[in-house]
Amino acid sequence: MNTVHIPASTPYDVRIGNGLLGSLGDTVKVLCPKAGRCLVVTDDTVGPLWLKKAAEPLSAAHIPFSVYTLPHGEASKTAEKLVDILNFAAAEHLTRADVFLALGGGMVGDITGLAAACYMRGVDYIQLPTTLLAAVDSSVGGKTAVDLPAGKNLMGAFWQPRAVLCDTDALSTLPQADFLSGCAEVIKTAVLFDAGLFALLEQTGPAFDRESVIARCVAHKRDVVAEDERDTGRRALLNLGHTLGHAVEAESGFALTHGQAVAIGTAVVCRAAAKNGLCPPEVPVRVDALLEAFGLPIRTDAPFDGLMARMLSDKKRAGDAIGVVVPETIGRCAVRPMATDEAAAFMKAGL
Ligand code: GLY
Repeated sequence: MNTVHIPASTPYDVRIGNGLLGSLGDTVKVLCPKAGRCLVVTDDTVGPLWLKKAAEPLSAAHIPFSVYTLPHGEASKTAEKLVDILNFAAAEHLTRADVFLALGGGMVGDITGLAAACYMRGVDYIQLPTTLLAAVDSSVGGKTAVDLPAGKNLMGAFWQPRAVLCDTDALSTLPQADFLSGCAEVIKTAVLFDAGLFALLEQTGPAFDRESVIARCVAHKRDVVAEDERDTGRRALLNLGHTLGHAVEAESGFALTHGQAVAIGTAVVCRAAAKNGLCPPEVPVRVDALLEAFGLPIRTDAPFDGLMARMLSDKKRAGDAIGVVVPETIGRCAVRPMATDEAAAFMKAGL
């Protein structure tokens, strides 16, 4: 087992290893000794596969629990479902001392974290990520959210979990397409911070050692969150590939997975950086080759104007400039503020 300590405003450990769901009862007892009941939030894909593994240790530790099951998919990440979870928690008589458990991927983790932040002005929650994407990114760092009709993650809060238990056994039931989608975030982390990890992935392809690579990615995220928990500076680096990626994802009508869109966004920004003389030409060559080795797309045929309209709508939230995360070399990137025209011309060079 690997443990990564996250020194956030509320510190916690991320534990990564086989069979960790089996320690859930003890974890709740130790971290939340006053808890009289848990609320397990899951979805209708993960629940049938993994709920029993979470329920057994809770029962063995004599911790009563209630289960709320969401329909799977991003469409469930809504304010309506959030209120439904809160009403359910109230109907099940959860108190301020009780604990929410997020058993699932990014959608379940995000909405459960926000429900925990809101219920009775904040209760403890534990993340139990079952996808690679949740393991390496969304379960760590305390970003919680639901989507609004106007956009993704527009309603949310920073609310750190009490712990993250990443049971790598859960990855065994993950469909290959979802696993590869999560790999886009692993490759993103390597381009951002870790030339050694990038070289390792070039050797192993998707057969990399799950536990050690997840721990390595979480350790990089720890360094960012420790410095900029509330996303006012360095944490923006984690958006590598996401500025165009979100636009590509939306233009596809969400036919592309988040990871596929991030892969395209990362590839485009690397090609654009090289064409603009901001990184050596070998960077996009290696990034394109690695993404393709993981079966991830590196190009989009979405119309340029549509992509730019969506991409630059981000700018409204950031003031006059858009912060584009640009590679300087494999393992080091920087956020470059660009005016609208400059950002559009920059991306065009990489498409
Ligand atoms: N997923 C990006 C962040 O946690 O900031």
